[in-house]
Amino acid sequence: MYVCMCYGVTDKAIKNAVKEHGVGNLRELNTVLTLGSECGRCVQMAQQIIDTTIIDDSLFKEVC
Ligand code: FES
Repeated sequence: MYVCMCYGVTDKAIKNAVKEHGVGNLRELNTVLTLGSECGRCVQMAQQIIDTTIIDDSLFKEVC
């Protein structure tokens, strides 16, 4: 699913940035991917994906 239509960034790309680069917020995400600086409509959803990916990852680690 595309999160940022202006730069063609998918939810998968954002999840990968969190998992592989330790991205924890939008500022850090922008060092790995380019999004949010055109119309800004994707910013809120991008932050939500970062948050849920971090939560999912930490739950996964606790179980294992
Ligand atoms: S949708 Fe991301 S900047 Fe426009």
